[in-house]
Amino acid sequence: MKRASTGVGKLWRNLHKYSSTDTVRDMDKNARPFQDIPGPRGLYNIPFIGAMFLFKPFTKYTVETAHLLYNALVNQYGPLVRVRLGEWVVLVSDVGDMETVMRSEGRYPRRMEPYINVLHCEKYDIPKGVGSLEGEEWHKYRSPLNARMMKIHSAHQYLPVQNEVADDLVAQIKLGKIQKDGALELFFRYACESISVIAYNKRLGYLSPNIENDPSKLQDLKDIQTMFKLMNETLTIPHILLKALPWKAKREYNSAANRIISHATDYYSNTLANIKQRQNDGVVDENNFMMSLLMLDKLSIEEMGSVAFELFSSGTESTARNLQMVLYYLARNPDKQNKLFQEVIETIGPRAPLTTEALGKMKYIFACMKESFRLAYPILSGPQRYIATDIVLQGYRIPAGTSVAMMNQKVAKDEKYFPNPEAFLPERWLRDETGRRMVPIPSSAVLPFGFGPRQCLGRRFAEQEIDLALTKIVQHFQVDLEHGHEDVELRYRIFVGTKHPIRFIFRTRS
Ligand code: HEM
Repeated sequence: MKRASTGVGKLWRNLHKYSSTDTVRDMDKNARPFQDIPGPRGLYNIPFIGAMFLFKPFTKYTVETAHLLYNALVNQYGPLVRVRLGEWVVLVSDVGDMETVMRSEGRYPRRMEPYINVLHCEKYDIPKGVGSLEGEEWHKYRSPLNARMMKIHSAHQYLPVQNEVADDLVAQIKLGKIQKDGALELFFRYACESISVIAYNKRLGYLSPNIENDPSKLQDLKDIQTMFKLMNETLTIPHILLKALPWKAKREYNSAANRIISHATDYYSNTLANIKQRQNDGVVDENNFMMSLLMLDKLSIEEMGSVAFELFSSGTESTARNLQMVLYYLARNPDKQNKLFQEVIETIGPRAPLTTEALGKMKYIFACMKESFRLAYPILSGPQRYIATDIVLQGYRIPAGTSVAMMNQKVAKDEKYFPNPEAFLPERWLRDETGRRMVPIPSSAVLPFGFGPRQCLGRRFAEQEIDLALTKIVQHFQVDLEHGHEDVELRYRIFVGTKHPIRFIFRTRS
């Protein structure tokens, strides 16, 4: 049954040597048909409504705990599961199979996009962002952004201003601004403020002490959260039903999205005017994300506006929720927190800002983040693709165009690759002088930012913002959890969160 990872290279070569039909024919003449893949049958397979029976009130699962449903399906049916979640989806949890999927994504990889967002863009004729585009159009947007966002140093030029944002986060914690519903709201404001300096080239004031008197900024925050909540809640509604019926969720989503886009357009127009003025004055700043896009002359002003808005909204809940989880594991494991504190002290001392040079030296902080991604997987399952060619997995034929979801969230807890899988052990990600890890980890096992040309565009920025917040927090505080509230249950709202607010205690270091 199991495909050894070493067979993947041969499969990859074969996939490129033959047409998709020949590939399957030559590789495995006896491959069993798609319909035979194990998975729930009967009621669950009824078109459009079958998925409903997998969730509450018919089972204990909700969209927020769908990761537990996927795990239960894999435990029941094995490494390849076919399940009707609106459309047919194949859940893949064998590492060798996952590598095959990664090689079958084609030149212009296709991924599912929250359909409520697609409907909103269509209804109001709003240009789609990079995450919703497909084919050559996607490529046209994505290529100029890659050059500006995906390089390892892309984010570093924003370190000085983002250090200041992280200082404001610390100031807010000192002022006791962690609200009764936990630190997440403050981390969310931090993420909004950090990403605004890239997307809009200026600080917008989400961490300002006066924000409570600024209804328009408070509305921005609420609207982004509403959008993520509704994207999540409508994920399993079949597209045809979501499009045809007058769901309340659609109305709420459209209002929130229209408001935030209108504010974003103002921020963007002001910044653009300012940057154009500087350009006319002869200032050439290729390191400035917005100016460099403008100078490229490839995207229209409207397209640039839509890119800026997408980067802003994508960089909020994502960073905030994952930052919260790393801090949780550090608070839960004081010895690891202390080790990180030592790394920070040895590299930059108790108060200095984070620099490019320091980041290059700080290996433990990276290991803490990666280990947190492993334990609290950032998204429900793992990357999803509509595969571009026919493939055979576990002896079953999967036709081109099928939706395939990788179960990294499950693999990330597999004892084979991660001994003592429930423990927070950043050390497992560190390498010795020869470049080896304690136990080898397959490169496809933990993919928090996805993979290939369609991987997360904001990865460098997200990592930097989390590094910055963690560094400043451990410089200033010893972080603990309230007694009796040490355990958490994971819940997903597109990105990872917890059932109840995490009860952090921030003790100021002397
Ligand atoms: C810890 C924080 C973040 C996590 C865990 C995360 C994760 C992801 C994942 C898993 C994908 C799908 C990748 C794939 O299918 O292979 C994605 C796509 C994307 N992310 Fe992120 N992300 C984060 C932060 C950000 C930030 C800060 C930005 C913006 C600056 C951003 C912008 C995007 C965009 C635009 C896409 C769509 C790319 C495309 O379709 O070409 N993300 N992200």
